[in-house]
Amino acid sequence: MTIGIIGAMIEEVEPLLKELKLERKLVKAGMEFNHGELWNNKVVIVKSGIGKVNAAVCTQILIDDFNVDAVINVGVAGGVGEDVYPGDVIIAENLVQHDMDSTAFGDKRGQIPRLDTFDFKCDETLLLKSKRACEKMNNCKYFVGRIVTGDQFIADSDKIKWLSEEFSALACEMEGGSVAQVCYLNDIPFVVIRSASDNANNGAHMDYEKFKPIAVNNSVTILKNMLETM
Ligand code: ADE
Repeated sequence: MTIGIIGAMIEEVEPLLKELKLERKLVKAGMEFNHGELWNNKVVIVKSGIGKVNAAVCTQILIDDFNVDAVINVGVAGGVGEDVYPGDVIIAENLVQHDMDSTAFGDKRGQIPRLDTFDFKCDETLLLKSKRACEKMNNCKYFVGRIVTGDQFIADSDKIKWLSEEFSALACEMEGGSVAQVCYLNDIPFVVIRSASDNANNGAHMDYEKFKPIAVNNSVTILKNMLETM
């Protein structure tokens, strides 16, 4: 069993790379795929870069060239749910791309036209393992629900209100929904685990820098707890 681990930014993958027993490294599409052993699991760790296109390319390479059996996307997110604060963890039960809009053809916002699903559901077993991993931690407040993805850093309280009302989203980020779509198309189990670095409101960019290290640390610990049970 090989697990693909995707983080969008170097800050999100660096702590994992430090723990990796690297066996081989391959560069494709400008991304470094680090193959090796992490906490007794065969993994490929990769920094995808930010946004949906990067994440989609990265996920498809993991599937085609590394034959991964599952994909885990970790990193930070903007809190959207009322009770979600910086540092809290959000495990995606499902994901929707909030910037997909073909309402002109009568589709619901977020619906990818002519696709047979509205949302992308995370794998039940990986979900269970993610929840258990959070429960092992002291002081880890975690939520399970919908994460929405779009090619926008959200720093606007009206926009979070909209994401909450339109999609019942708990958090927003810029890659998960696209990792999820590629996994869905290839029938590969996946889960997205994020930790809130900000509240996606007017001060989001400032909170983001302050809370990012805490948020990154959370997702690394969860991943460690999770991999130890795989
Ligand atoms: N990742 C972390 N914070 C975010 C935000 N506010 N919007 C989009 N992606 C994010």
